[in-house]
Amino acid sequence: MNILVIQGPNINLLGLRNPKIYGELKMEEIHNRLSKVASDLGCQISFFQSNHEGQIVDVIQKANGVYDYLLINAAAYTHTSIAIRDAIEAIAVPVIEVHLSNIHARDDFRHKSLIAPVCKGQISGFGYLGYEMALRIAVSELKGV
Ligand code: DQA
Repeated sequence: MNILVIQGPNINLLGLRNPKIYGELKMEEIHNRLSKVASDLGCQISFFQSNHEGQIVDVIQKANGVYDYLLINAAAYTHTSIAIRDAIEAIAVPVIEVHLSNIHARDDFRHKSLIAPVCKGQISGFGYLGYEMALRIAVSELKGV
């Protein structure tokens, strides 16, 4: 079981960036926690962060046949990127959409996710735990339990 976590723009600023909304954990601390959970669950986990839409599209395309599940926080591109949506739709790998904050309880422009219709599901509003929940769901699905 090989899982890739894709982090979109400004997620590298976690810890500094609006901690009341996004929490106090830095991205690296989130990744360290996820690595421990992945090891307990017996799966491989890798991480990729980019502030550039095209780089995220490239990584999604290359994930096909390499990873068994993708967890993506596309950040602001969630609300704007048809290219990321089309890349997710094009691959056979299932994808869970994750957001730290509850995008439906924030600005109107955050309510719409362009990627939601091509993802297995969305977890939004539970901070770091959203990634952990997504990881546990992905592993359960892959194990068929
Ligand atoms: C976010 C929500 C987005 O609206 C925002 O642009 C982000 C982070 C979240 O994790 O809550 O950068 O995806």
